[in-house]
Amino acid sequence: MDSQEQDKAFFKAFGKVGAGLVALAVMCVTLAVIVNDKTEHKNHDNAEALALVAERLAPIGKVITDPSALAPVATATAADEKPAQSGDQVYNGLCAACHAAGVMNAPKTGDKDHWKKLLDEAGGVDGLTKIAISGKNAMPPRGGNAALSDAEIHAAVEHMLKASGL
Ligand code: HEC
Repeated sequence: MDSQEQDKAFFKAFGKVGAGLVALAVMCVTLAVIVNDKTEHKNHDNAEALALVAERLAPIGKVITDPSALAPVATATAADEKPAQSGDQVYNGLCAACHAAGVMNAPKTGDKDHWKKLLDEAGGVDGLTKIAISGKNAMPPRGGNAALSDAEIHAAVEHMLKASGL
């Protein structure tokens, strides 16, 4: 085979592959058109679907340029004394994970005798709150959420005692 024949053979093979790729591309486009045709109307007419798409496309963060929108954040830090979440919310969102069923020997909510004993040992709700804030053995500091304020932990402890009949 001289080099000219070699070239010919190459172009023949190359042409076949090229033709195959073009056919594949045409098939893909045709399929896309068919699929799109079937789903397009359904999705575009459906306000719910559009809202979902808008939600998915929404940016993760937004720059707030309206100063009045910043006010609530400022007041939230100023009023640190008042718990942002109620004891009920903190308890159900976090503490219940261990204290509802007594995971890792956590004192169970509702076990009145046990909590009465702990309450006496700690010298009251404030004492128990201090322990809950600093942690004790398997009990993580602040139940594992360092973002909770002292007031929120206090409210959660109160909620747990109340739910135990104390
Ligand atoms: C990861 C599991 C876990 C979570 C979550 C958790 N606790 Fe506990 N907690 C424990 C365990 C275990 C103990 C028992 C510690 C010990 O006595 O060794 C305990 C004990 C306590 C005690 C009694 C301390 C004492 O012995 O006087 C209080 C009060 C308490 N937790 C409050 C809370 C509050 C409030 C929350 C939610 C903010 C919370 N815990 C979340 C596991 C947990």
